[in-house]
Amino acid sequence: MPYAEIDGARLHVRQRGAGEVALFIHGFPLDSSMWLAQLESLSDVRRCIAVDLRGFGRSCPVDGSPLTMEQHASDLAGVLDIVSVEQADIVGLSMGGYVALALAEMYPDRIRTLALVDTKSEGDSELARKGRDATAARLLEDGRTALAEGMQEALLAPQASLGAKARVRTMIEGCAYETIVGALAGLRDRPDRTHVLETIAAPSAVLVGEDDTVTPPADAGRMAAALPDCTLTVIPNAGHMAPIEHPTAVNAALRELWARAAD
Ligand code: MLT
Repeated sequence: MPYAEIDGARLHVRQRGAGEVALFIHGFPLDSSMWLAQLESLSDVRRCIAVDLRGFGRSCPVDGSPLTMEQHASDLAGVLDIVSVEQADIVGLSMGGYVALALAEMYPDRIRTLALVDTKSEGDSELARKGRDATAARLLEDGRTALAEGMQEALLAPQASLGAKARVRTMIEGCAYETIVGALAGLRDRPDRTHVLETIAAPSAVLVGEDDTVTPPADAGRMAAALPDCTLTVIPNAGHMAPIEHPTAVNAALRELWARAAD
């Protein structure tokens, strides 16, 4: 199933492994290839599925209208329907974490475990909302290369490998203008979902790079404290892209979460 047709959209789906499904949700403005090291390593214990969200990666193009977290969550519930599973181990990075929390609110029964990686539960501050609009305006002036340069620095720890830098940059440079604009509006207007955390009875894990400046360890600590059955893992020498920067540590934490859920 390299593609899934859902609600008028054609979504690109990567799959590795067999058995219980783990669903990986990428960040902004990235795509499912950010999870390659997880799909490669964890396919011995899970059917790992990573979807390019609507407009991203190899999924269908979009027209620049707001891409909401709720739309993405509903698309992913559609993917779970297509693969005929009720529940999955959900793993979301940053924007993917915002989508995971929308999924947890809208479809609580579909969460077997939840891993929130380099993300937060709060919505945008007034300043951050203005920043989204400024980024969209700058994109028109300066194009994606400038966005990629700026974001690469923000997303990765300074000591990240050249390979990690190249991968992040390539994903951003490959993201369509309409997708970036639509996603910025969706991010800007997303609601605060802090209240959802205490409702998540499923085992959960919060992972954060110790050098993450976008969603710093303090955000992660607050989420972990609010989640009823949660562990917190701070990943040394990683920034906001821990699954790319330190896949071994991220994969170990996911294995631990999934093992905990089986106890
Ligand atoms: C991401 O990595 O998905 C973005 O940094 C999220 C955001 O800008 O809020």
